[in-house]
Amino acid sequence: MRASDFLFTNALLVDPGTGTFGQRDLLVRDGRVEAVAPSLAPYGTWKAGDAPLAVCDLKGYYLFPGLVDIHTHLRVPGQEHKETLASGTRAASAGGFTSVLTMPNTNPCLDRSSVIRDLQKRIAAEALVRVYPVGAVTRGQKGRSLAPLEALRRAGAVAFSDDGRPVMDASLAMQAMQKAAETGCPVISHCEDDRLARGGVVQAGEIAEQLGVKGIPPAAEDVMTARDLVLASDTGAYLHFAHVSTAKSLDMIRSAKDRGVPVTAEVTPHHLALDARAVLRLGSNAKVNPPLRTEHDRLALQEGLRDGTVDAVASDHAPHHPREKASPLTEAPFGVIGLETTLPVMLSFVEQERIGLARAIELLTVGPARVMGLDAGTLETGGQADLVIVDLDRAFQVDAGLFLSKARNCPFDGWSLKGRTLLTMVGGRVVYEREESLRGRTTRQ
Ligand code: DOR
Repeated sequence: MRASDFLFTNALLVDPGTGTFGQRDLLVRDGRVEAVAPSLAPYGTWKAGDAPLAVCDLKGYYLFPGLVDIHTHLRVPGQEHKETLASGTRAASAGGFTSVLTMPNTNPCLDRSSVIRDLQKRIAAEALVRVYPVGAVTRGQKGRSLAPLEALRRAGAVAFSDDGRPVMDASLAMQAMQKAAETGCPVISHCEDDRLARGGVVQAGEIAEQLGVKGIPPAAEDVMTARDLVLASDTGAYLHFAHVSTAKSLDMIRSAKDRGVPVTAEVTPHHLALDARAVLRLGSNAKVNPPLRTEHDRLALQEGLRDGTVDAVASDHAPHHPREKASPLTEAPFGVIGLETTLPVMLSFVEQERIGLARAIELLTVGPARVMGLDAGTLETGGQADLVIVDLDRAFQVDAGLFLSKARNCPFDGWSLKGRTLLTMVGGRVVYEREESLRGRTTRQ
């Protein structure tokens, strides 16, 4: 569907950022939201002679602000055999995401302003959705000396992380938090004590024993969560916890938040939906870091969605080449993809009444946008028209073979889910449309 301006009518609008939940019309002009109201028909403020207008009846369909993913690996630069900006952002658009943060564990990693500037040029040329780089915390992500955080911020980094690796040196981690605070950007902590985790493949315990592989104890995450909470509390710097996976870490974060420590937390769909047993069925497509944990942890994370301890759900989309993932379990890289399944997996929790629809959408829109201070995740009048239209009732079977991502390492392959993205728009431009599914509902003026 191509037109300059759009009037969506009869949409079921869920926008937790503005507190809207109900049937609305929404007018997009010049890439911005011009009006949202119970009725704008027939054409809102559009009049003959203006730019062409597409009027699209969304009766029965949902309209959400474009989803925001604050944890994506687009693998650029240097690992384009796993994913590219084009394939990764196509996958994002198909999943309803209009803004993504891309992690710095690339080759070279994003530890120099020149690398980030080059990446920005490629983003401008190749990306379909908004892409925000995360700068490295330490040079080479080696954990020995700080990267030039201020210069990285000036080049466009919106946060700092050594994601994929922990910053083991507590003094360096503390300096990073202080420096990052001066730049106004958060540090994203990948909590893992590498001595406790080293050589581990899956969660320590029964499954690791059954498979005869080394386990990763929950303490590997928990001791670092505890350390980073102390550092955040002492520095007053803003810290964000990536992919929280244990009940104990979540509990510590909950009490720290209650005491006013400035931290936020994200969880992933795979830690919410799967436990360690999944690796028996899925092999390396369930090998992820932090590992899938116990049922107790999984249910605790779901409780964290409900009680507000968790601020955002993030995909941790970690594409790997099928050949890499085909290696024996002990050698295959950690990571699963998620851009094209995060929304329907979250909607499955809504269907199971584990979480309300508005809260699920909050965790995918304004929640993550607030965590990273992004001007995104809500459809305010005058704001950029980043949105997604979803058929919540449409059931489908996940077929990783059809993904727009280059990668196939999806733990949800074959699952029956509901909630199809029909159209995704970034700044008023249609970047994704499923099989022209809205054509029969659209008239042009
Ligand atoms: O499973 C993971 N994969 N966890 C990480 O922290 C890094 C990621 C990757 O880059 O593949």
